[in-house]
Amino acid sequence: MLSKINTAVSFIQHLYAPKPQVGIVLGSGLGSFTSEIVVEKEILYSDIPHFPISTVEGHSGKLIFGELGGKKVVAMAGRFHFYEGYGTDEVVFPIRVMKFLGIETLLVSNAAGGTNKHWKVGDLMIIKDHISQFTPNPLVGKNLTEFGPRFPDMSEPYKKVLIDKAKQIAATKNIFLREGVYFGVTGPTFETRAEYKMIELLGGDAVGMSTVQEVIAAVHMGLPVFAMSVITDIGIRDEENTITHDEVLQAAKDAEPKLTYIFAALIAQL
Ligand code: HPA
Repeated sequence: MLSKINTAVSFIQHLYAPKPQVGIVLGSGLGSFTSEIVVEKEILYSDIPHFPISTVEGHSGKLIFGELGGKKVVAMAGRFHFYEGYGTDEVVFPIRVMKFLGIETLLVSNAAGGTNKHWKVGDLMIIKDHISQFTPNPLVGKNLTEFGPRFPDMSEPYKKVLIDKAKQIAATKNIFLREGVYFGVTGPTFETRAEYKMIELLGGDAVGMSTVQEVIAAVHMGLPVFAMSVITDIGIRDEENTITHDEVLQAAKDAEPKLTYIFAALIAQL
């Protein structure tokens, strides 16, 4: 694993020498954030040794290097989901590569289903905590101390200082933010009524098929994380309610400008 990461890192550094300070993972329908970046280099996943290749609709599959808010950034346009058939090692591979490239902060976005019954489609949620116990943990297996400790502390996976900064940024622009717990699932099925109800009962405000494994790998390596969900659908338990991927992508697109503003302003303030 370590040698694969080192090979990928050397390959990238050969093509693009500057050290990125911030890593960004963009969720379904949220990829146009990259237009904020003054692009210096793009590298296709398919060109990087050992990198998995993205297959899901709405994702393009490249690393974008450049500048935003006076910082060097690297953005993943397209991420790897467990439901695509990737092992957890593959899902978190790019996070480890970005850390070894030098990033000091990780920003993550995703599209998620709302399980908090007071919420609406289009709401933006700061992830203040997550529940990952329903998905395979990427740290299962031999621990590599080059990444981090065997039993990483998870008391603050989403950094409070970054959450506070984001709230201030949103307040100055009158952007309404939710704050809640992201409940990780494997997918690819959306949840049944009974499952949405279970998630709500267990303390999830939103549910999604990404993020938790990436964040675990980041926290393992000591990387401060900030993450936001766009609520793209509501898991209503008592009424007729169906969800399509197209609806998820559309709702994400509609909310994207607000999310983009917060991410860009946060990066500028890091
Ligand atoms: N469930 C799981 N993942 C999702 C959902 C959902 O309702 N919406 C967007 N991603």
